[in-house]
Amino acid sequence: MFQPGLHAMMPATQHDEDARMSFVYQLKEHVATKIGPGNKLVYETSVEPAFRKRHGRSPKDRHEVHREMRGQDYWRMFGSLSRLYQELKQSYGGDIVDRQIGDLNQRARGYREQAKKGSLRLDPNLEIPRYQSGVDIHCLPGGYHTERSPDDVTAGAMYDPGVYYFAMGAMGPYNEDMGVSIVGWLKKTRPQFKPRRILDMGCTVGHCTTPYVDGFPGAEVHAIDLAAPVLRYAHARAEAMGKAVHFAQQNAERTDYEDESFDLIVSHILLHETSYRAVYNIMKECQRLLKPGGLVVHAEAPVRNAEIPAFDAFMHDWATHYNAEPFWGTLHDMDLKKPALQAGFAEKDVFVAYTPKLYGGGPGLTGGGQWLLYGANK
Ligand SMILES: C[S@@+](CC[C@H](N)C(=O)[O-])C[C@H]1O[C@@H](n2cnc3c(N)ncnc32)[C@H](O)[C@@H]1O
Repeated sequence: MFQPGLHAMMPATQHDEDARMSFVYQLKEHVATKIGPGNKLVYETSVEPAFRKRHGRSPKDRHEVHREMRGQDYWRMFGSLSRLYQELKQSYGGDIVDRQIGDLNQRARGYREQAKKGSLRLDPNLEIPRYQSGVDIHCLPGGYHTERSPDDVTAGAMYDPGVYYFAMGAMGPYNEDMGVSIVGWLKKTRPQFKPRRILDMGCTVGHCTTPYVDGFPGAEVHAIDLAAPVLRYAHARAEAMGKAVHFAQQNAERTDYEDESFDLIVSHILLHETSYRAVYNIMKECQRLLKPGGLVVHAEAPVRNAEIPAFDAFMHDWATHYNAEPFWGTLHDMDLKKPALQAGFAEKDVFVAYTPKLYGGGPGLTGGGQWLLYGANK
């Protein structure tokens, strides 16, 4: 089986642990590529014709398709298996981290005490918003923020290899695809743009933060997240990889940076894990934090529910109902330009664009081989 890129913070695995993760990967691949497509057959040959007979039209959106499909045995079987591999991944991943958590916490502490490149600023009083504290996001027990021991890095140590297996390696060896893809897009579309201060919002373990260190040498790179366990891991990981990043525990809706602090603000699959109100607040905060001439870019999966068939929107929506990502569907329904306009960006400066994934779409990733980029120039 393929292996993630290694660094000194990556949890070590033993033979049986690798075998279990390999099983989860193969189960996911099988469910995504061999079982998932059968849902369309069920819909087209039975569910949609029956609905049409009753209503004289097709189901109009993801909600109507869901109401019809959720009673179908095939959909239930697909959903149970999808939920199973997700829970197994978190359970096996948790076992791997649990047996070495003392060492991992100690290693991260060592990087903090001798930080050579970047820094870490934690705020134990930061309030975790309900959209994060109220769910075990994508079945990660306790979400990103739960502290299990002093100086805990559990959530980070689970997330790092976990993303790799969830994406089936399609995000690159260091799960950096969105970061390198945006850097490449910036260099192509704005060759003169040379940001000197960069902020990554919702960085988790810094998978997509470090590509900005490499992409814009000499720039000062900052990264924030709500959750201390992932930030401790992120800081240690970046130090272990020799990348200078200044991490801080902050809410992207309202940070403590001064007005006009950054030339470039980015986020990578942050927005779908927040809330409707938070998306508006985050865009307002980006407007405040950007220098004139600066740029904000948020990357998400390229799902625009209004622009795709109702059945496809329904299939993309699995995580909303069954993987504890309650805001997923609503984000992909939203007119993303509105929060930017309300934040004060000019209409001509607001954009929704697409860029190819550097590593290409894996069989388990939504939307094929590109990222949706939503943002604005100030
Ligand atoms: C899916 S992960 C992002 C992945 C990451 N950007 C990467 O490149 O791998 C979402 C992250 O956003 C963080 N988050 C959610 N809401 C936030 C907020 N309001 N402010 C800062 N971080 C937030 C979560 O704690 C979590 O670590």
